[in-house]
Amino acid sequence: MISFNKEQIFIVTGASSGIGRCTAETLNSLGATVVAIARREDKLIELKENAKFPENIHIEVKDLAENIEELPEYVKSLKAKYGKFSGMAYCAGVGDLKPLRAVEYNDIKRIFDINYFAAVMFAKGIVDKRNNIGKGFSMVAIASMGAIGCAPSMTSYSGSKAALIASFKVIAKEIATQGMRANTVSPTLIQTDMADETSRQYAEGKYPLGLGDVSDVANVIVFLLSDKSKWINAQNYIIDCGSEM
Ligand SMILES: NC(=O)c1ccc[n+]([C@@H]2O[C@H](COP(=O)([O-])OP(=O)(O)OC[C@H]3O[C@@H](n4cnc5c(N)ncnc54)[C@H](OP(=O)(O)O)[C@@H]3O)[C@@H](O)[C@H]2O)c1
Repeated sequence: MISFNKEQIFIVTGASSGIGRCTAETLNSLGATVVAIARREDKLIELKENAKFPENIHIEVKDLAENIEELPEYVKSLKAKYGKFSGMAYCAGVGDLKPLRAVEYNDIKRIFDINYFAAVMFAKGIVDKRNNIGKGFSMVAIASMGAIGCAPSMTSYSGSKAALIASFKVIAKEIATQGMRANTVSPTLIQTDMADETSRQYAEGKYPLGLGDVSDVANVIVFLLSDKSKWINAQNYIIDCGSEM
């Protein structure tokens, strides 16, 4: 059984809703301390109020797409406030559905800012040995089946997630010598705010096990953050119930 203690501190970005919120709740319920980051303070307060151990949830309101180049310094300031981190779940992200003819450079940049550039700069900060526990540290970023299936109208989104998978694999190989790990997970359509009604209707009936729930992804992330996965590194876990979509 997976369990943590409150001295194990995990950063969860995108903790205000969807998969990130479920990941934060699950880590907290298993005993870990969580630093929950997102822009919507009201949703973070809701997360804390409803948590099993509210005293072990710390809220940080932050737009991660602003001043991306300063994210390593931001991570350093969090370490000074809370202590060395045992891991991170990078769950912040935005979607985009546009055919190429409608895509402008700024659309690609907006998507890459939060889905890729901020993820990599955050990772740069947290793998700095001054900010983490060293051996046993584990981080996970949410990519997407969009990076593999590559459906139409997802040029920016699929590109950002494919880049994320590749860079996390590289980072994983760089940090493995210090006993640290990095992996990504790639879910298909999951029932969250991000999945709009049209996508849900499209997906209905296409998944042999039904539509995915946030816990179907969060449980895999928590496993990858725990020492139960201590020999798993540089992987991209597809979570699609075998639909290959
Ligand atoms: N749902 C799916 O079908 C699906 C499938 C594959 C992959 N994914 C990936 O899973 C991850 C989580 O998505 P979700 O489905 O759980 O959707 P969601 O409920 O919309 O969650 C997205 C999270 O990202 C945060 N966020 C967005 N922009 C941010 C910014 N600039 N700064 C800080 N935080 C920011 C949001 O918080 P605030 O708005 O409060 O800042 C929110 O907590 C995303 O990376 C997404 O691409 C989702």
